[in-house]
Amino acid sequence: MKRNPERMKQLSPYFFARLSQRLAEMKAQGRDVIRLDEGSPDMPPAAHIIKALNESAIHSDHHGYQSHRGTPDLRQAWVGLYQRLYGINLDPDQHIIPLLGSKEGIFHLSLAMLNPSDIVLVPDPGYITYTRGALFVGADVYRMPLLKENGFLPDLQAIPSEVINKTSLMWLNYPNNPTASLADQSFFDQVIVFAKQNDILVCHDAAYTQVTYNGQPAPSLLSSPGALDVALEFNSLSKSHNMAGWRTAAALGNPDALQALFSLKTNADSSLFRPIIDASIAALEGDQNWIQERNAIYRQRSDLVVASLLQMGIKADLPSASMYVWASVPQGWKSMDFAAQLLEKTGVSLTPGVVFGEYGEGYMRIALTASIERAQVAMDRMGEWMGSWH
Ligand SMILES: Cc1ncc(COP(=O)(O)O)c(C=O)c1O
Repeated sequence: MKRNPERMKQLSPYFFARLSQRLAEMKAQGRDVIRLDEGSPDMPPAAHIIKALNESAIHSDHHGYQSHRGTPDLRQAWVGLYQRLYGINLDPDQHIIPLLGSKEGIFHLSLAMLNPSDIVLVPDPGYITYTRGALFVGADVYRMPLLKENGFLPDLQAIPSEVINKTSLMWLNYPNNPTASLADQSFFDQVIVFAKQNDILVCHDAAYTQVTYNGQPAPSLLSSPGALDVALEFNSLSKSHNMAGWRTAAALGNPDALQALFSLKTNADSSLFRPIIDASIAALEGDQNWIQERNAIYRQRSDLVVASLLQMGIKADLPSASMYVWASVPQGWKSMDFAAQLLEKTGVSLTPGVVFGEYGEGYMRIALTASIERAQVAMDRMGEWMGSWH
């Protein structure tokens, strides 16, 4: 078959797709693999969410296509979340559309909003879908370095004016994957001013705003004055409510940008399964106390992982949020080689920092998605392997 469209050349194999293949081979050989690579929560959602899914599925009329806007109750539930967490009043008919997980929304937004000559500002290191969406439509990507000395925030002043002049879209993500860092509201306020001054749509990926360790949700970009004029926020139940496989999320904010995304999506998908809509409402409106308990478990795991890494002589900070530890790779190693050798020698799988961009080199990301017992085994194996070097 001789079909090779130009735009597909932008999509080099997804790291996790290749890794899954290697992990499957290792498992087939009987190796005990511990996955600390992908950000897929290992714990289930609360029982009332699963109950809502089951109860909805029993209805004979819940199996057809749904409106592309989801049900009014679903939109109201998202609006309710923003009201409860941030005191923001959104309009359920203008300021939100449901998504089949935030990844498709993030990718499709580029298709809906960008021209080939546009520049897109992406954080580096960062979630790769921002870049892939931009490249797919032929736009150019300008990488904003996230450096430890700047608290892993981009330096807006450092972006050259000739880049800014051609920029139509900017991506941010706090709590940040992979660096586990937070942004405060005053940073978001500056971003909105910057976006308004330069006529940029700013998109905040808020997937981890409820995975925090201080008992408070992380700030929303939509709380900043004027945000609805220039900003979208992508929120998701994948991490906040342990529903990664369910594919339920939302884009919230600027009505014009949402309308463009909506038009594209009416051509690309056919909305969520009704029982997932009903379970999402249960997730958003039901008891939320379990989220704190879940976060406390991530916290225990991160304490264990960071203490173990420090003992091995590896630099790592305790995360304030997200479900990752962002640690330095041992001196003399490239992150890809270190992760590959660690996997082959010990069966422990983590993500090399360079997968998230060139500024991720020198780091590795450890996902807190294994039980504390398995995380301990993983750290023991890593320590033993590193001990054997001397
Ligand atoms: C920063 C970030 N954004 C978005 C996503 C996608 O989440 P989902 O499509 O499950 O909502 C992920 C998943 O790992 C992520 O880490």
